[in-house]
Amino acid sequence: MRSPTPARLALALVAALAAAALLGGAAAATEEAYVTLLYGDEFVLGVRVLGKSIRDTGTRRDLVVLVSDGVSDYSRKLLQADGWIVSHITLLANPNQVRPKRFWGVYTKLKIFNMTSYRKVVFLDADTVVVKSIEDLFKCGKFCGNLKHSERMNSGVMVVEPSETVFKDMMRQIDTLPSYTGGDQGFLNSYYADFANSHVYEPDKPYTPEPETQRLSTLYNADVGLYMLANKWMVDEKELRVIHYTLGPLKPWDWWTAWLVKPVGVWQDVRQTLEESLPGTGGGRSPHDQLVVKVLFILPVLLLSFGYYQSCFQFSNGMHSKLPSYFGALTVLACFMSAGVSFAFAFAIIPKQIMPWTGLLLMFEWTFVSFFLLFGSYLRFVYRWGSLDANHVGHSRFDSSENHMVTGRHHNMSDCDIDATFYWTGMAIIAIVTVLLPTLLGVTALFAKLGLMVAGGVVLASFMTYASEHIAISAFYKGQRDRNVSRSRSICFLF
Ligand SMILES: *[C@@H]1O[C@H](CO)[C@@H](O)[C@H](O)[C@H]1NC(C)=O
Repeated sequence: MRSPTPARLALALVAALAAAALLGGAAAATEEAYVTLLYGDEFVLGVRVLGKSIRDTGTRRDLVVLVSDGVSDYSRKLLQADGWIVSHITLLANPNQVRPKRFWGVYTKLKIFNMTSYRKVVFLDADTVVVKSIEDLFKCGKFCGNLKHSERMNSGVMVVEPSETVFKDMMRQIDTLPSYTGGDQGFLNSYYADFANSHVYEPDKPYTPEPETQRLSTLYNADVGLYMLANKWMVDEKELRVIHYTLGPLKPWDWWTAWLVKPVGVWQDVRQTLEESLPGTGGGRSPHDQLVVKVLFILPVLLLSFGYYQSCFQFSNGMHSKLPSYFGALTVLACFMSAGVSFAFAFAIIPKQIMPWTGLLLMFEWTFVSFFLLFGSYLRFVYRWGSLDANHVGHSRFDSSENHMVTGRHHNMSDCDIDATFYWTGMAIIAIVTVLLPTLLGVTALFAKLGLMVAGGVVLASFMTYASEHIAISAFYKGQRDRNVSRSRSICFLF
């Protein structure tokens, strides 16, 4: 092999330098940046949507996400592919060691004051979404934030002028200043003790000299909690800039919140437009969840076809004297426990961050199938019980011709099948209507919505009480009737 000549080397060097200059030029940091913070993978979708919403405003400024150790390599790659500048940070330890572990690292947000490679940064929490350009925030002063909850500064949206002096000063006082939240927000409230008296920032009327702190209008940090109380934005909706989804455990990326909290629709709309930065991530999907969703959709169908269920109950009116007095209560208990367990199980296995409709459909599918199998098992037990009971009493009251008739009927639909089908579908339809009623009626207020659902729940519970008893009683008598019928044909449930 020929060794490269000096001329070739020089050429290669020039080319490399040119490429580096080009790349460097393209990636040159802007003076100002949007910044968010990510502690774990759970909030990645939030950051993706936030980033998309900022880019949609047409900004040319940097988007920087500070990630801590809890964030996986895949998530970092994904955010980078989305266009974020991913910057690793270590958690800033809580100086107060007596606090529980969950408060560890809650001072990390203060590190944005140390981002001195930028002249100014606009910080946004990962559970916010930008609905209208907020570029004018970069003209705000050294420190700008929102007042919320009786004179307290909320650290969800902030404008910060990074400064080594300020950051060092903060680090110096971190042990001494109290924090009512035990975290950065409480600390900042102590550090900027006079914040509540700051002027409100008006983009068109800059103050000279620039004040230490300025207050941002609610438009820049509109709390969904406020929306929920009045069921409308208390500010001019057309002027809204940033929505902050601060409803405790109700995070916009969880599928069920879209069904409860109307403004989550705004967030979901942005999410739908997310590009496929890595394979399978378009529309904010996760490749892993997509596989799980497919399996979850198909599995119940398989379960049902393997555990082929032959509805074979018959009403036998006039023979109720045989049933123990606690039978009704036991049945209703079994029915409600089956329903409760099915619901909880379905909720637990469905991935949280899937699309609202996918989540709802899977929820119905899994709740219904689990309930069908669980309560079906109870019915099978009742059926056996019925046939044992018939052993004790004998089966004189059933003549053999009737038994033969039962034996001979294989898959024919009979009146009893229709009755049982009626009860099962009745329960399913009431359950579906109960969940969808507020949406169908266009009700958006949370309390009205919950009220309607509770009303639907009462109807559903009444019907379940009634239906479960009827189905179980017929299973019991079916057991009695079938006792003497050839074993192979008499089993109603084949799971
Ligand atoms: C603050 O920034 C400087 C310079 O970028 C860096 O050397 C230092 O480690 C940072 N401090 C903390 C506590 O992160």
